[in-house]
Amino acid sequence: MGTESEWHVEQRSSFGSDTPVTKEVPETGSLSIVVLGASGDLAKKKTFPALFHLYLQGFLPQDEVHIFGYARTKISDDDLRDRLRGYLIPDKDASPKQLEDVSKFLQLIKYVSGSYDSGDGFILLDKEISEHESSKNSIEGSSRRLFYLALPPSVYPSVCKMIRTYCMNKSDLGGWTRVVVEKPFGKDLQSAEELSTQIGELFEEPQIYRIDHYLGKELVQNLLVLRFANRLLLPLWNRDNIDNVQIVFREDFGTDGRGGYFDQYGIIRDIIQNHLLQVLCLVAMEKPVSLKPEHIRDEKVKVLESVLPIRDDEVVLGQYDGYKDDPTVPDQSNTPTFATAILRIHNERWEGVPFILKAGKALSSRKAEIRIQFKDVPGDIFRCKKQGRNELVIRLQPLEAIYMKLTVKQPGLEMSTVQSELDLSYKQRYQGMIIPEAYERLILDTIRGDQQHFVRRDELKASWKIFTPLLHKIDRGEFKPIPYKPGSRGPAEADQLLEKAGYVQTHGYIWIPPTL
Ligand code: BG6
Repeated sequence: MGTESEWHVEQRSSFGSDTPVTKEVPETGSLSIVVLGASGDLAKKKTFPALFHLYLQGFLPQDEVHIFGYARTKISDDDLRDRLRGYLIPDKDASPKQLEDVSKFLQLIKYVSGSYDSGDGFILLDKEISEHESSKNSIEGSSRRLFYLALPPSVYPSVCKMIRTYCMNKSDLGGWTRVVVEKPFGKDLQSAEELSTQIGELFEEPQIYRIDHYLGKELVQNLLVLRFANRLLLPLWNRDNIDNVQIVFREDFGTDGRGGYFDQYGIIRDIIQNHLLQVLCLVAMEKPVSLKPEHIRDEKVKVLESVLPIRDDEVVLGQYDGYKDDPTVPDQSNTPTFATAILRIHNERWEGVPFILKAGKALSSRKAEIRIQFKDVPGDIFRCKKQGRNELVIRLQPLEAIYMKLTVKQPGLEMSTVQSELDLSYKQRYQGMIIPEAYERLILDTIRGDQQHFVRRDELKASWKIFTPLLHKIDRGEFKPIPYKPGSRGPAEADQLLEKAGYVQTHGYIWIPPTL
């Protein structure tokens, strides 16, 4: 049954059950990765390229792994391979070796066509997987089956049912079946809970991997280390020293052909309720007991449960001019493409500190960052207050960096002060290092059975609870977005809200990412 090192112990969550169950999970044996929705956008742009990169780095050994694409379209194995090839070849100057790698990887992929709500296709899929397992299985009963649902959530319940009925790893001797699902998990608290219940009846929580790809980003993963491994920051991380926190997502393009989809959700459901809120949890949570996934997720849930109801006067919504020109967007759409909302955490560490979450499409730039602004220095003998406050900025993308804005002496004979920064720019500090794509990391975590960077059911529920009242008001048309010009900073009202919340903008200083 494999050596001890080939196994790790999966601590099953006590969530939803009375007692934790400890189960041995194999790390070797045949691995079947099934991508459902294989010809869709997500699969082509994210899932298959991530699998390809894992393959290139040796994480998907040819003698263990087989990949299955599943979708409704009736095409052959080679048709699917041809559709994927263009997304895997790095550029038009790809070397013969790169092209060969792509071809070898594509040979690992088989295609099965079938519907999402009837048995036939899944029976066939199970047959194909079983054939692969018997040809590759070196250890009896240690087969691993990973189902990646690159599908709209409306079909999750039926697809999960089909997998549960026809495609589970049947061996009692070991192995596992895991299911990866993508957001949106519902549209509000009620629909998310319904979805969770439907899937929860078919799979246990340790088998369900809810992806939030922001949790796979390098600098998001660094938050835990930055916060809890640095004595310098520990005593400062609280309401006594921090004035306000901003978590910002900006894109310099609009909904780009996704208008029809986007319009049903809006920026809060698309970005804030999941990606930014997850980041907030990691910024605000207490130190977990250990690095075990359940300990980390327990602390995140506590933060979410301490968030006070959002006040209407602490929200600004926007919609960019031209959004409704998309023929798939209704003329009367009230959907926000921009939002700023202030979240307040009612606990000892954060009482009174606004957490400003801001996200927008079609803005002046593309970036995602966390900006922690410290309070003014009391008794300012240098009169440097007007130059701006200390800030710790964690730039998630692009040009990953952590920089700390400080006041220093202006070099020279005069005793004057100036704003500068301590700068850890990744490109410069870690030259030649390639930062892995979020999806790559998360799929590898799924294969390894590590749920730390996935959203647990109670986290999901708590995050919907925070935003559902506001979302319902928007859906009922009681809260209107303010129009803004594409390529701008968004509605001016959002900047005014920031100022009201206590954020002091620095003038005359700008961080310039270093060039190599
Ligand atoms: C997705 C959203 O979850 O994240 C998109 O649905 C958004 O609207 C995307 O563009 C942004 O991801 P990233 O990794 O480019 O910041």
